[in-house]
Amino acid sequence: MDVRRVDPSDRPCAEACARLMLASEPWITLGRTLESALAALQNPGKELHVVLEDGEVAAFVLLEMRGPLAGYIQTICVRPDRRGRGLGAALIGWAERRIARESPNVFLCVSSFNDAARRLYERLGYEVVGHLTDFIVRDHDELLLRKTSGPWAEFKPDAR
Ligand SMILES: CC(C)(COP(=O)(O)OP(=O)(O)OC[C@H]1O[C@@H](n2cnc3c(N)ncnc32)[C@H](O)[C@@H]1OP(=O)(O)O)[C@@H](O)C(=O)NCCC(=O)NCCS
Repeated sequence: MDVRRVDPSDRPCAEACARLMLASEPWITLGRTLESALAALQNPGKELHVVLEDGEVAAFVLLEMRGPLAGYIQTICVRPDRRGRGLGAALIGWAERRIARESPNVFLCVSSFNDAARRLYERLGYEVVGHLTDFIVRDHDELLLRKTSGPWAEFKPDAR
């Protein structure tokens, strides 16, 4: 799997990622717009990484490496025709190794109605640590998940 970091100024690549989101759940229900998706994907404070296949985005992950939830997988998306074949799990594993260089914690949020993604995260070792009622839209909650290698006091940056 070839993962590449995208420069925030790369609008075509960010837009390809945004369009994947806009056409897919959970973002349809969550009311994502092109503007809000691009604002996150091109935010210079975050990291956008893509998997390219035949020059097109097959999957991407957006990471937040700063603040109290450093190591937050803000968005992960696999192109619909590539889902269910292990690419999402592989990209999460890649993001976990990236995050382990700087933090013992990986956080992510999953919508309460996104049962398939919740199953995947549970299988990968994530635990629910928070319940954010009506967080993005009314009547749908976000679950905050965490996977940890231990407390900050014992953390040794993983240089792999
Ligand atoms: C969730 C997602 C990133 C997983 O990537 P993937 O490549 O499909 O996942 P893998 O092939 O590694 O693993 C398959 C698992 O993902 C689950 N999965 C979640 N959403 C899926 C979807 N839309 N299509 C296929 N599988 C999906 C499958 O149910 C399967 O778990 P199961 O065996 O318990 O049923 C991807 O399906 C996706 O982009 N979904 C839509 C966006 C989304 O929900 N993102 C997560 C927001 S928190």
